[in-house]
Amino acid sequence: MSPLPGPGGLSGYAEHFIEPDGYLDFGRFGPPSADVAEATAALTTQAAHCTSHTVDELMGQEVRARQAAARLLGLPGEGPDLDRVALLPNASTGLFHAALGLPRGTVLVPAHEFPANLYPWQRAAALDRVRPVPLSPDRLGRITPDLVRAALTPHTVAVSLSAVDFRTGFRADLAGIKQVIGPDRLLIVDAIQGLGATVLPWTAADLLVTGGQKWLRAGWSTGFLYASDLALERLEPVLTGWTGVEDAGLFDGAGHRAADGAQRFSITNLSPIAAGGLARALELVERAGIRRIAAHISVRTDQLIDTVRSVGGLVLSPTSEAERAGIVAFAMPATDPALVGKALEAHGVTATVRADQIRLCAHGSTTLGSVDLVHRALRSLRRS
Ligand SMILES: Cc1ncc(COP(=O)(O)O)c(C=O)c1O
Repeated sequence: MSPLPGPGGLSGYAEHFIEPDGYLDFGRFGPPSADVAEATAALTTQAAHCTSHTVDELMGQEVRARQAAARLLGLPGEGPDLDRVALLPNASTGLFHAALGLPRGTVLVPAHEFPANLYPWQRAAALDRVRPVPLSPDRLGRITPDLVRAALTPHTVAVSLSAVDFRTGFRADLAGIKQVIGPDRLLIVDAIQGLGATVLPWTAADLLVTGGQKWLRAGWSTGFLYASDLALERLEPVLTGWTGVEDAGLFDGAGHRAADGAQRFSITNLSPIAAGGLARALELVERAGIRRIAAHISVRTDQLIDTVRSVGGLVLSPTSEAERAGIVAFAMPATDPALVGKALEAHGVTATVRADQIRLCAHGSTTLGSVDLVHRALRSLRRS
């Protein structure tokens, strides 16, 4: 058992952030670190002073970000494995590469997924390519390996799901799902609600996509993908752009072959300024240690769950450590979530407020003071 954290944020991590106490909306947006803010400002200034070498120098940020992304996934940050990682401007672009890249068959997609993981499959079906088949969760909102196994048919070519569900916070058993679908079907994973917050066997995925704007705290217009051999073999490079081909710098008017590695899923360059921000964000996670960050989140998550229950709230998220990451959804009996949201806001708490639930998310920088603000806000509801 790791020692309980004190009242502050995680040392070696929290010092890099300046969001106020009460910020608990990492499932929507993770305020970036001072390192990211400084790096992007410095790179923008460098671009403003542009000389003959500046653009090439700035483009060096791409490799730095890919190396850090590979290490976070547990790959060596160099050598051939680096070719499995390519930068993306967001998770959706990666999901469109996946959906449009599969020529035929069916894909199992959880029915309640965030729409970023629904529209690409609908567009693919409209183009007469792969067709999505909804996968209904069990009564606790979970997509388990058994449930996936029961839904497989000879037409199933892939399963596409979020590693951590945006609504319930349920954390999928990626290795178990890959095992039941076998080596011939693709496991496509939207990692945006988990990467930077939890430890998972990420490379169980054949195609992993993420944006960096939430738990990685890299800012908007950042992200990356990872592609296994199977993904590179099965996904047609339908959306490959000029930066995704061999000899991308040779402008000879000819159509070049798609690059061998994950770079084939590049439509154009990511802004090198965004890449620089992503690199700093990933390097901070690495320095602080993803296991330490996840452990801190787990303790604060327990505290949030206890707080909600102590005032009679109903926790809607899985509560066991094996099935959750950083998201706690709840409702107050017979109370409109909009009212709960108002009380939270009045007490300085930033949460996601939806028609049927409130979502709270702690991170490595979350203090006990933030949990206390939630407690006060929910208690104020009982009094009124
Ligand atoms: C599960 C999930 N996927 C994707 C996104 C967003 O994707 P993108 O990076 O394309 O904006 C969100 C939230 O905005 C999300 O919760």
